[in-house]
Amino acid sequence: MNIVLMGLPGAGKGTQADKIVEKYEIPHISTGDMFRAAIQEGTELGVKAKSFMDQGALVPDEVTIGIVRERLSKSDCDNGFLLDGFPRTVPQAEALDALLSDMSRKIEHVLNIKVEKDELIARLTGRRICKVCGTSYHLQFNPPKVEGKCDKDGGELYQRADDNPETVTNRLEVNMNQTAPLLSYYDDKGVLTNIDGQKDINDVFKDLDAILQESGQ
Ligand code: AP5
Ligand code: MG
Ligand code: ZN
Repeated sequence: MNIVLMGLPGAGKGTQADKIVEKYEIPHISTGDMFRAAIQEGTELGVKAKSFMDQGALVPDEVTIGIVRERLSKSDCDNGFLLDGFPRTVPQAEALDALLSDMSRKIEHVLNIKVEKDELIARLTGRRICKVCGTSYHLQFNPPKVEGKCDKDGGELYQRADDNPETVTNRLEVNMNQTAPLLSYYDDKGVLTNIDGQKDINDVFKDLDAILQESGQ
């Protein structure tokens, strides 16, 4: 099962990805998480990515495609994978298709989570993330049981560097510009499903899961 999860910043990709990979036992591949890990480790990739991410801009395609190529070649992807936040441009989608075609594989589902702009801003500015496991919480919409601590491992919760109001506005604009052509690209291939992401977290998951079940996977 090879899945792409799409959606503007704050749509709930990471939140839903955690649930999908738990149920279907496939790896969760988030380019954003990979870049943040590289920044944390101070690698060359991290240095390259940081300047773009801090502005809410996209990391150049060749860098992003390179890390995805390397990740998909790992054996844990043999039975499928869930891509979160990649592809984000048509050239990335084309590169992904070429890469998979070399492996005699293809994308079976592109699930696009749709949420209104005002709601996205509220979600991003109130988000908190676990330092240990990366789980997303929200101060109002999805608070942890104990303030400032992760439900799963007690890890400290922090705010992402790009979740300040100014960077959020830029991220939304950049991503909105890229999204329309990408949606047409996948719609033309007949693999795109739009999902209402404004419902609560468990209801969105039910809808996503129904699509995955329907296909008899
Ligand atoms: P990335 O990390 O992918 O960030 P993003 O796309 O901006 O998306 P987010 O992670 O912010 O949102 P999400 O959809 O995962 O929402 P979440 O589940 O956390 O990318 C970061 C940066 O890396 C990019 O800006 C770019 O620079 C670079 N990058 C990454 N991929 C790239 C690529 N392919 N090409 C080039 N550059 C790339 O939920 C958000 C909040 O809402 C949480 O607080 C959550 O608790 C809450 N919430 C979730 N669902 C609901 C719900 N149903 N109701 C109420 N609240 C909810
Ligand atoms: Mg995310
Ligand atoms: Zn945690």
